[in-house]
Amino acid sequence: MAEMPEYIPGLAGVPAARTSICLIDGIVGKLQYRGYPIEVLAEQGTYEEVAYLLLFGKLPTTRQLDEFRGQLIAERGLKFRIIDLLKTLPESGHPMDALTAAVAAMGMFYKGDHIEDLEFRRLSVIRLIAKLPTIVAAWHRIRRGDDPIKPSTELSHAANFLYMLEGEVPTRLAERVFDVALVLHAEHSMNASTFTARVTGSTLTDPYAVVASAIGSLAGPLHGGANEQVLATLEDIEDRSPQAVRRWAEDRLARKEKIMGFGHRVYKVKDPRATILQGLATQLFRKFGSTPDYDLAVELEGQMTDLVGSKGIYPNVDFYSGIVYQKLGIPIDLFTPIFAVSRVSGWLAHLLEQLENNRIFRPSQIWIGEADRTFVPIEERG
Ligand code: CMC
Repeated sequence: MAEMPEYIPGLAGVPAARTSICLIDGIVGKLQYRGYPIEVLAEQGTYEEVAYLLLFGKLPTTRQLDEFRGQLIAERGLKFRIIDLLKTLPESGHPMDALTAAVAAMGMFYKGDHIEDLEFRRLSVIRLIAKLPTIVAAWHRIRRGDDPIKPSTELSHAANFLYMLEGEVPTRLAERVFDVALVLHAEHSMNASTFTARVTGSTLTDPYAVVASAIGSLAGPLHGGANEQVLATLEDIEDRSPQAVRRWAEDRLARKEKIMGFGHRVYKVKDPRATILQGLATQLFRKFGSTPDYDLAVELEGQMTDLVGSKGIYPNVDFYSGIVYQKLGIPIDLFTPIFAVSRVSGWLAHLLEQLENNRIFRPSQIWIGEADRTFVPIEERG
């Protein structure tokens, strides 16, 4: 019998692709998109510029960026029948499920001949990045009985999303903070949803199916869903004194419970995105006043660093993102859909890279069952 390969749960550390999209060094906390440090992109870039960079591998010139922005703006609207579809969904359902359903349905409205048709591929990429924010905002309004707001043809990607939620053009600061949050979430190498996107894409299915499957993967509480749960975790801590916060954390750890917003498969230091988000939170607080959740979060981070920092467990991107979104007035169950609104450009960059040199994913398995069993007719089974 052939020698058994080693089984690695969660494929931890097993390379699944050769890529030039996102570089992470989890030991020192380094994150780069296409070779540019995340700190620089967050400070100097915009989401549209970063999406272009991820998709095409280079920073756009002014002309290229104007053209790309124009294409996105032209594709922001939704077909009436997609809006009708959203209206048929139960308003108590999770927005991630509504997003999955609408994106999967897009595949029926925008049928292309084949993913190898480069024009179909290009248009699908633009449509998906442009329309995801519109779907999330439309669903949010539809579920509470309001009409969706038509997307603006003037505002940036970030400002337009905030505008479509409540019909108010955001302040410059709110727009900037939200834009940086989108930049920070746009890509993160071979995480579960990106791997899902590459696996689905490797079958040469359409990009709508690719993104719908990636959204399903992102929804889980160990992945994108964690950002919603961080605020619930903070709410759970009744006594906010340092001693009580420490006892709360010790208790959870002793019961082997995961504390949401901490830990990462790759980072063994504080996630650089968490540090940038913390900076954004303080900018917002200076303008709009602080929130007690932030002080509690900082206290919890300190206690956790003391307790499990030596095991490489530190805040990840989700720890401070919820606090920022809450301050921007965004409802909690939209936090994960916003992650998808941003990450879609990363997923599509990986799809394009996968298609450049595609081979369908087909890993092996390690058989642990019984073989060559004899079929017993039902009347003879004990
Ligand atoms: N709280 C308490 N203990 C933890 C945590 C945590 N958040 N994360 C890891 N550990 C412990 C875990 O109990 C285990 O301890 P031991 O070796 O004593 O059994 C050890 O660290 C290794 O944990 P693991 O679950 O095997 O690590 P992993 O690499 O498989 O999982 C993770 C990474 C992100 C799924 C995990 O850290 C986790 O569940 N964190 C909470 C959920 C979360 O915040 N997810 C967002 C991740 S970042 C954004 C994204 O990817 O979407």
